[in-house]
Parts: sequence; structure tokens; C-alpha cells
Amino acid sequence: MGSVIIGTGVAVPPRIVTNDDLAAIMDTSDEWIRSRTGVRQRHIADPGVGASDLAADAVVEALRDAAVAPEDVDVLITATMTPDQFAPGISGMVQDRCGLGHIASFDLRQQCGGYLYGLDLADALLRSGKARCVVVVGAEVHSGYMPYGASWEILRGQRSGPADPVDHAAATEARGWAVLFGDGAGAAVLATDDGPGTGFVGSVLRTDGSHADLIEVPGVGFRHQPYVDAAQLEARAHWPSMNGMELFRQAVTCMPAAVREVLAGADLTVDDLSLVIAHQANDRILDGVRKQLGVDADLVPSNIARYGNTTAATLPILLHEQRAAGRIEPGDLVCFTAFGAGAHWGASLYRVPGAR
Ligand SMILES: CC(C)(COP(=O)(O)OP(=O)(O)OC[C@H]1O[C@@H](n2cnc3c(N)ncnc32)[C@H](O)[C@@H]1OP(=O)(O)O)[C@@H](O)C(=O)NCCC(=O)NCCS
Repeated sequence: MGSVIIGTGVAVPPRIVTNDDLAAIMDTSDEWIRSRTGVRQRHIADPGVGASDLAADAVVEALRDAAVAPEDVDVLITATMTPDQFAPGISGMVQDRCGLGHIASFDLRQQCGGYLYGLDLADALLRSGKARCVVVVGAEVHSGYMPYGASWEILRGQRSGPADPVDHAAATEARGWAVLFGDGAGAAVLATDDGPGTGFVGSVLRTDGSHADLIEVPGVGFRHQPYVDAAQLEARAHWPSMNGMELFRQAVTCMPAAVREVLAGADLTVDDLSLVIAHQANDRILDGVRKQLGVDADLVPSNIARYGNTTAATLPILLHEQRAAGRIEPGDLVCFTAFGAGAHWGASLYRVPGAR
């Protein structure tokens, strides 16, 4: 028995912030962001909208697409690094908002690798017979990290510039990571399937905790007593801290290696692939992945220009778009791959049910 994807859904906040909008509140430019990352715009949530809200909307759409009633879901897996509040996680909020039963639900904290881990866990639950229908949703509201102060009013069109010099300086200090990220959510419904050799046919999940400091939020945690205080905020310990160059190097090495490993384990090669749904962190990382695998842009598509890096939501958003565009046909072999903070990475292989 295998597990197959029977529905997908996406939810992104309607407000869009372009690179030029960011250039009005910090020292950056559309040219710098586009040429270094491929990002042209990102969606941003309004205050009061949490990852659980976007996740719930994406789950409702995915259930509708799958024609599955909320009461028929057995397990809900939510992946996020930007939960609505410190505790509890968002899975219970999403379960409640979507009208799911009193089912098992839990959060994953594997950042950009979270959705890949979620798919693998869902497959294991379905394959073992512990569940017959599992929903996996990735959702992020990164906007809460952005130290834009009163400049948010400019981004939200509530007033025109110029930005306050203190806010401008803080935004510029954060520009190395702040321009990369966007908000959004994507969900998939998975169910058991009896087809021979279809569904998830292999996976490789990896962790190297020695690289946890490549991208981390070092403060606001229980090694500190109290866990949050003015000194941490003063030291910017609640901001992401990122070694962009080394992350880049790790991502372009680890993702292709995982893809090759999972293919080899299933006695397949790169030539057998119909599509690679890869984590969307940077277009130049995707170029590196294509080069390492010896494939073209059509096989490893990108949508980062429109969303930025939505962390746990990038895989399901791209999956949903590729399904909608008719790029996923019966019999196709789809590979999912991601690399994220932790460091957690891997790849999984999915054979679309039905004959070619
Ligand atoms: C972040 C990233 C785009 C930076 O690109 P880069 O070419 O390595 O750029 P650098 O960090 O070396 O910075 C080069 C210069 O641009 C400046 N810069 C950084 N961000 C900038 C921005 N948004 N606008 C303008 N200039 C910027 C830097 O201050 C630096 O200036 P300096 O040379 O005067 O010190 C790239 O390293 C990357 O994408 N890494 C992976 C990040 C990632 O995947 N994160 C998510 C993890 S899953």
C-alpha cells in the first residue's frame, strides 16, 4: 500500500511588497535583489494574521480540491518556523478552524525542510495503516521578523515616505536576510492507494546540527532566564542571523546529492525525472541544483520571483501551481527536495498514479 496526493491548496495574503517598495525604506535596489536572488515581490500579512490563519485557508482549499470532508481527515501535520505565539504550536488552531475532528495533530520545526519531513511522515502513517487520510500544511508569516518600525505604514500605503532615519538604518541592517522572505501557506491531502509502485517510492532525510548556526534566531529561548529580556532585544537576538554564502554552498551541494541518493535507492536516474519541486530560497541556488544534476530550468521550475522564500510553504505552493498548470501527469516521476535551517535537508520521490 502506498500514499498519493489527492488535493492541494494555497493561501497567500493579498498585500504585495515589491523590491522598489523595499528600496523606499532601506538601502537596497530592485537590481540588487533581482540579480542576487531572483525575488521581485513577496506577499505580506497584515498584523493579526498568523501562520495558522493562512494554513487553515490552504487546508480548506486542499480539502475542497480533494473532495474530502473535514471529518474524514485522520492526522494533521503543520510545518512552520513562525508560529502565531510561542506556545502552543499552530496545529490545534488549524484543526479547530478547519472543523477537523479530535484527531492527532502536531507541528514540525524543520524550517525550509519542514514540508519535506511532513510528506515523509504522512507517507509513513498512511503506509503503516495508522491513518487513511493525512493533511500536510506549511505556513509562514515572516513579516513579524522584519524590523521596519513605522516604515510598515509606507509599505502598507498608509503614508508616503521618506522613512524615519532610525527605521531606515534598522531595515538596512537587516537587508541581507529581510529582502529574501515572504508570507504564505500551501497544503496537500494525502490518502492511501493500492496502485502498484505509485505514490511515494523513496525518501532521504538528513540532519547536520553542526550547521545549525548558518541561519538561526539565537534569542528568545529557554537557555535565557528570563527567556526574553531587554538585553536580548538590544542585541538583536530575536532577529534571524544568517551566513548567506555558506548556506548557499551547503544548499547547492546537499540538495543534488540527496536527489541522486534517493534516485539510486530506487534504481532510477535523473533521466527518469519528470519534475523537481525544489525549495525556493534563491534562483541562483536553483541554477546550482540544475547544473549539478545536468538538467534545465523546465525540470526544476522556480516561482521565487513572485513569493520570495516562504520557508515551509515553498514546496506545497509550487506543487499546487505545477498541478494547476498541468505539469504533473499520470505516471510522472516527481522529486521533492529541500535544504533548510537546522540544517535539515533531503529528497523524496513521488510516482503520480495512473499510466502514462
Ligand atoms: C543572501 C544572499 C542573496 C547574499 O548574496 P551574496 O552575493 O552572497 O552577497 P553578500 O552577502 O556577500 O553581500 C554582498 C554585499 O551586498 C550587500 N547587501 C546585502 N544585502 C543587500 C541588499 N538587500 N541590498 C543591497 N545590498 C545588500 C552586503 O552588505 C555586502 O556589501 P559589502 O560588500 O559592502 O559588505 C546569498 O548569499 C544567498 O541567497 N544565500 C542563501 C540564503 C538562503 O538560502 N537563506 C535561506 C535559508 S533556507
